[in-house]
Amino acid sequence: MDIRQEVEQILESLIQLRQKFHRYPEVALHETLTTQMIIEELQKLRIPYECLKPTGVVGFLGMKEGRVVALRADIDGLAVAEETGLPFASEHPGCMHACGHDGHIAALLGAAKILKKYEEEIDGQIRLIFQPAEEISAGADLVIEQGYLNGVDEIFGVHIFSDIPVDCVSIKAGPRMAATDHFTITLTGKSGHAAKPHQCVDTTVAAAALVMNLQTIISRRLNPIEDAVVTVGRLSSGTAYNVISGQAVLEGTVRTFSVETENQIKKWIIQIAEDTAKLYGAKADIDYPESLHPPLINNERIALRVYDQAKEIFCEEQLSGVPKIMLGEDFANYQKKIPGVFAFVGGGRTDGSVNYLNHHGKFDFDDKALFYAVKLHLVYIKSVFEKL
Ligand code: NI
Repeated sequence: MDIRQEVEQILESLIQLRQKFHRYPEVALHETLTTQMIIEELQKLRIPYECLKPTGVVGFLGMKEGRVVALRADIDGLAVAEETGLPFASEHPGCMHACGHDGHIAALLGAAKILKKYEEEIDGQIRLIFQPAEEISAGADLVIEQGYLNGVDEIFGVHIFSDIPVDCVSIKAGPRMAATDHFTITLTGKSGHAAKPHQCVDTTVAAAALVMNLQTIISRRLNPIEDAVVTVGRLSSGTAYNVISGQAVLEGTVRTFSVETENQIKKWIIQIAEDTAKLYGAKADIDYPESLHPPLINNERIALRVYDQAKEIFCEEQLSGVPKIMLGEDFANYQKKIPGVFAFVGGGRTDGSVNYLNHHGKFDFDDKALFYAVKLHLVYIKSVFEKL
């Protein structure tokens, strides 16, 4: 299989496919039309498939005994109103493929089209996982619960990011994306007249102190060599300007690259919240459920193997220099079960135009990212099945 030559032949159809999916985005667990459109493409390619419930689909390539590997694409859009003005912009108001998942679908279908031609030479099996609900971190678990990871030896996936320049891809080993925790702290005090603070317990003041105290976790408590984020994204307190607030709610997220750091920060947050509340005479109730997914950590052996293979297609410069990121990915839930590698694909235009970030209403990416994403899937498969 000559990867360059093969991808060259499907360039136009890849772009069209991506634009087709871009028009009809659907939010997590509602990807009914998307699933139907993927099925139609699989049928055209004569690739057998099974449907995931409630949405999503898994295709099957290769019939021989041997290694079983999975390629994964997430398929959901976001509740974001599209502002790109592109001719193929979303036709579903208030919903948009603002994270490039349309590109992931097209790239996996493109790779499937090429691999189908070489099915006889695949000494094993390939599962094509079109996973729903990545944005709410529910889809990977759904695939696992429905048994589609059973018997799979390894998994590979890609993500397009507009803040990485197109032409750059990354297949690094180790931590690549963060664990995502979500906490809610409710402070309860005693409300009353704004002019009588001595008779009240003001939760606005306690909440303000708590936000500041939480900042010291990263700056003063965590080993400076560790990477982590503590963000209080939402804070609400009080009902009127002349009433002392008796309740405040803080909501935030923690991002970490190791389970140890994650657990440590969780303990500090609980301790600081309780102690700060106490200092102001208030009470803290902390809701801190288990993280949506662990940090995404690429298997070293596989990452090196894929990297070696990638050197035949990409130059060293294209393969280096993309650091890990604090975003989360439920691909990490597959890696809890089996070894896998998740690659980053640059989608940012390099012609001087503004690149809006993933999840922005003006997010878009350079079409070349599609070709690189297909190439990465093929590079990965070639690293597994050497006969190809
Ligand atoms: Ni995404």
